[in-house]
Amino acid sequence: MFSKDLLRSKRILITGGGTGLGKGMARRFLELGANVFICGRRKEVLAETAAELGRQTGATIRALPCDVRNGQAVEEMIETIWKDGPLDILVNNAAGNFLARTEELSPRAFEAVIGIVLVGTINATMACGRRWLKAGHPATVLNITTTYTRTGSAYVVPSAVSKAGVEALTRSLAVEWGNRGIRMNAIAPGPVPTEGAFSRLLPRPELETLAKQRNPLGRFGTVEEFANLAAFLVSDGCSYINGEVVVMDGGEWLQGAGEFSTLGRQLTEKEWEAMKPRKTSSTG
Ligand code: HXC
Ligand code: NAP
Repeated sequence: MFSKDLLRSKRILITGGGTGLGKGMARRFLELGANVFICGRRKEVLAETAAELGRQTGATIRALPCDVRNGQAVEEMIETIWKDGPLDILVNNAAGNFLARTEELSPRAFEAVIGIVLVGTINATMACGRRWLKAGHPATVLNITTTYTRTGSAYVVPSAVSKAGVEALTRSLAVEWGNRGIRMNAIAPGPVPTEGAFSRLLPRPELETLAKQRNPLGRFGTVEEFANLAAFLVSDGCSYINGEVVVMDGGEWLQGAGEFSTLGRQLTEKEWEAMKPRKTSSTG
């Protein structure tokens, strides 16, 4: 689909790049000649992904453990990267999400998701943005949102409000920083099977079939389709796209977004209870 050197020598950081869509983008960017950095909280997951992708593509990939909620930790990670030269591209992909009845959420539950999705995106964008502006270094930011930013969605409210905030950030900075060489765009994907998303957001197997049937194309998106769109948007080949949120959902949102809004009529009391966190549960 692309020339093999589309992203040659571009230095790209993908937050949450150890799994799912982030890992898919890392693989595609490496194939297209980029130098890729991935970050996430789990060191072992990052190391495994870096080893696997390095082996498969023969390209350079570096893994940096970092919790994007922590502004100081993000600053230190970015400083480490900058020691060998500036990034050219930042992909804010790290996210947290789960299904829950909103009135049952604790303040910490809201904070967990808002911290990763909205504050994490702000932390990474500001750490890179300030350096780019100071040096006059042209760059691109790609944020990953969702289709329910437009409509909201029941049962994923911390995610919906955070992702809507990320789109506001994208459009605002596209204007504020555009004439200083920084492009800001976002992709709003519909459902794409990944362990991280589907383990948390599909409480019953048959809901998967219903979700596919609901989609105009009768299927979910693929990681490869997503990674191709991301490669296009961060490349210099589309330098005039700025402040755009590109939906990739098979046309689903046109017939009504808010993917999880009907769950109130579908799930039983027992199923809601089963999704609550166990006190001893670990992350990931
Ligand atoms: C209610 C919950 C909960 C749940 C956690 N909490 N899970 N509340 N229902 N299912 C509450 C906890 O009780 C706690 O509050 C607070 O949230 C923080 O929980 P921790 O487990 O300590 O948080 P942490 O270890 O930081 O984990 C963050 C996380 C977790 C968001 C809760 O799920 C995670 O690490 N997710 C990362 C990966 C991920 O979510 N990927 C999916 C992305 S898919 P209290 O008050 O008890 O202390 C996506 C888009 C999907 O975003 C769109 C599809 C179309
Ligand atoms: P995923 O595999 O769970 O990816 C989330 C990544 O974020 C993980 O690698 C996770 O690693 C990292 N992360 C979470 N909290 C972090 C923190 N505090 N600091 C640093 N990294 C953190 O899920 P995915 O499906 O690939 O999702 C990727 C992106 O696509 C997200 O923005 C999501 O909202 C979006 N999206 C996905 C879908 C879908 O259907 N898959 C649909 C719409 C939008 P650690 O746990 O190791 O930190």
